[in-house]
Amino acid sequence: MAPRTNGVGIRPEETRICVVMVGLPARGKSYIAQKAQRYLKWLSIPAATFNVGNYRRNNAPHPSADFFDTNNAEGERKRRAAAEAAVADMMKWFKSGGVVGILDATNSTKERRKWVLDRINQEGVDVIFVESKCDEEELIMANIRDVKTTSPDYQGQDPEQAALDFRNRIRNYEKVYKTINADGDEDHLTYLKIMNVGRQVIINRIQDYLQSRIVYYLMNLHIRPRSVWLSRHGESMLNLEGRIGGDADLSHRGEEYALKLPELVLESVGSDRPLTVWTSTLKRTIATARHLPKHYNQLQWKALDELDAGVCDGMTYQEIADMYPEDFQARDEDKYNYRYRGGESYRDVVIRLEPIIMELERSEDILIISHQAVIRCIYAYFMQKTQEESPWVPVPLHTLMKLTPRAYGTEVQIYKAEVKAVSTWRGKGSTAKHEDPTPEGGV
Ligand code: ATP
Ligand code: F6P
Repeated sequence: MAPRTNGVGIRPEETRICVVMVGLPARGKSYIAQKAQRYLKWLSIPAATFNVGNYRRNNAPHPSADFFDTNNAEGERKRRAAAEAAVADMMKWFKSGGVVGILDATNSTKERRKWVLDRINQEGVDVIFVESKCDEEELIMANIRDVKTTSPDYQGQDPEQAALDFRNRIRNYEKVYKTINADGDEDHLTYLKIMNVGRQVIINRIQDYLQSRIVYYLMNLHIRPRSVWLSRHGESMLNLEGRIGGDADLSHRGEEYALKLPELVLESVGSDRPLTVWTSTLKRTIATARHLPKHYNQLQWKALDELDAGVCDGMTYQEIADMYPEDFQARDEDKYNYRYRGGESYRDVVIRLEPIIMELERSEDILIISHQAVIRCIYAYFMQKTQEESPWVPVPLHTLMKLTPRAYGTEVQIYKAEVKAVSTWRGKGSTAKHEDPTPEGGV
């Protein structure tokens, strides 16, 4: 029998990659690392980040800039010990089934990169270096202000002093920093070099499928401020009957939501920001978008269509429980993986949404009008919901959600249209047509 893939074209038992971050402090390495980890985990690829700074804080919790001077023997020793501890933990993690480990540290000298490469290759793990190189002084200062002065390294310290110290820390790193392959003798390394937040990228010796996926994802990241708005379609005729799937028209109240949506969007987006609207190809999302300002670009994506319920399309949950009791129970037991006969699972939906996520990462402001299961999957990507949680997240009708990515997380704002609608949320074991969501995990 051929080895199983996890649905995204990799065989976890045969793939082990260590992504080694490279770059001076405040170049977005941790930002890139946490995004890569979130993306991979969303795709069910076991991924974890090992941040050497966290290990270093165990033996040097509040170091000043001179701790990072290479002439400081004590500092050098402790930094090396922290890197070794992080790599050792990562190796243990690979042995327990890890697939992509991310080593988040500066790795800013050739010597350190050689050590990391030898140490990791020795365990049969492939290495890909990802360097963020940035010389935009204003951006670096903004990064220091936004994330470094609040670092645990400077707990209880004056932010001005902290920023000054961090600048000096960077100077100490600059004395020994070598960008990858600066001298032409690191050409054997597999690497991605991202310069000035993607204005230019260099790719060297990227080998397999998963490496290319990671590289492609990282090449598409940007840090311009933007938001993503999510809404389900207005209440549909089938929603009223508690029937799933189908391609129904909007109910009277659904039409009311469609009329109200422009106002809600304007309130949240503002009148001067251009917005692109993505809908599914089903009537109810297209109808919901139709009163939005004409100057908004609109695009229909098949990938945004609702989870395909296969033979259960158009049925109520009660009818499914009566006709396919074993399936009904199996779905409750593992809703993420359960695939409707002739239809899809949440896992399938995530996989077909991958190009949407990629495009979202490249884009500026986008409003997505889609369906309950699809919005749950997109929400799970931004909010790092687990596979156990995501299929149960309440996403009420007639509600606009604004997601704003920040340095290390996503901010959520909710706008209610105040147009009544049925609830289509269903709790485990229930066959109710319309049931109010329980408080946990909701939006
Ligand atoms: P350190 O070495 O101190 O851990 P770091 O390189 O890990 O620093 P981050 O903590 O990731 O830096 O810095 C986060 C900030 O970097 C965020 O404000 C984010 O917007 C910004 N950022 C993200 N990507 C990049 C990039 N490619 N270049 C520069 N800045 C970036
Ligand atoms: O009931 C509305 C709906 O969008 C259905 O079309 C879809 O099958 C269902 O929600 C998905 O929700 P769940 O996965 O909770 O059944």
